[in-house]
Amino acid sequence: MVCLGNICRSPLAEGVLRHQAQQAGLNWEIDSAGTGAYDPGCSPHKLSQKVAKQFGVEICNQQCRQFVKSDLENFDKIYVMDEENFDEVKRISGNKWDASKVSLLMDEVYPGKHVIVPDPWSGSEDGYHKVYSMINLACERIIVKHATLAEKKITN
Ligand code: 4NP
Repeated sequence: MVCLGNICRSPLAEGVLRHQAQQAGLNWEIDSAGTGAYDPGCSPHKLSQKVAKQFGVEICNQQCRQFVKSDLENFDKIYVMDEENFDEVKRISGNKWDASKVSLLMDEVYPGKHVIVPDPWSGSEDGYHKVYSMINLACERIIVKHATLAEKKITN
C-alpha cells in the first residue's frame, strides 16, 4: 500500500487489509510505504490510529518507510492511493517497473475511473473517516476477488 508520506492513508490501508486478510484466514504479507516518507520510522498519524482503533484495527506499531525499487520484486501487488504517487512508484521502480503489478487502490471498486483516496493530512477527523471507509471497501473487494479466483482454481 503506497501513498506520499506513509503517515495517513497507506498505514490505514496496510492495517485494514491485514485485519481483513487475517479474518479470512489468509496468510498474506502486507506492508506499506510512502514515495516521499519524510520521517522514516515514525508512527502513523494520530487520527489514522484513532479512526482505525474505532473499527478494531490496531496500527500503532507500524513504522513509516520509503518505497524502494525492490518492493516491485518483493511484493505480488502494489496498490497506490493517487495518480501522483502512481507516477512516483513508476519513476522509483525504474527498470523493475511492471505495470501488471501496480494499480490505484480504488480501481478495485471503480475500475478505470481514476478515483483517488484523498490526502487527509491537513484536514479534520472527518477526512480520516472518509478515507477509512474508501479503503475498507476496496480491501473487501480485494479479499472477495482473491476468494473468487481461488475457488475457480479449485473447480478448474
Ligand atoms: P499520506 O499523507 O500521504 O496519506 O501519508 C501525508 C503525510 C505527510 C505529508 C503529506 C501527506 N507531508 O507533507 O509531510
